[in-house]
Amino acid sequence: MQLPVILRGRAVSGRGVGATLGVPTVNLDTVVTSAVAGGVYCCWVFPPSGAGRPGVAHLGPAVTFGQTKPTLEVHFLDGAGVEHGTTLAVQLVVRLRGTIRFADAAALTARLQQDLAQAREYFRSAPPPDGAAGLASGPTPEGF
Ligand SMILES: Cc1cc2nc3c(=O)[nH]c(=O)nc-3n(C[C@H](O)[C@H](O)[C@H](O)COP(=O)(O)O)c2cc1C
Repeated sequence: MQLPVILRGRAVSGRGVGATLGVPTVNLDTVVTSAVAGGVYCCWVFPPSGAGRPGVAHLGPAVTFGQTKPTLEVHFLDGAGVEHGTTLAVQLVVRLRGTIRFADAAALTARLQQDLAQAREYFRSAPPPDGAAGLASGPTPEGF
């Protein structure tokens, strides 16, 4: 699989578990297929207008919590999330790891902090995002 990959979707409510782990996420209604390897990615997130924002994405089922349905969710490294219903383009730029089934929420939380640190390190010297990637509006065929 060659990166970057761009996925699109609308921000929807998740199960609300992310915030309890200290890493609030925006869930997307993107139809996740096996075409893109699951796991944790550094990403640029493009709202319908404005600049790309750095984030960390998880693509796949939250197996630690017994979930089987793969989802796409994003944690914004620059703070605030976005309103529900906002269409986002998520440009996956670097894959950090695969999805892991952790023994418990505490083990996942510890790993999330490592993921965030790695992502911040990446964005310290990352090239700026390609503005053209922010084509978040328009029709979304097959959920992409
Ligand atoms: C950076 C990041 C990495 C994640 N890695 C894993 C993982 O390895 N295993 C897992 O089961 N869930 C992982 N998740 C998903 C969390 O379990 C998920 O955010 C949590 O269940 C909240 O879901 P909710 O938004 O539906 O409330 C990850 C989430 C993020 C943001």
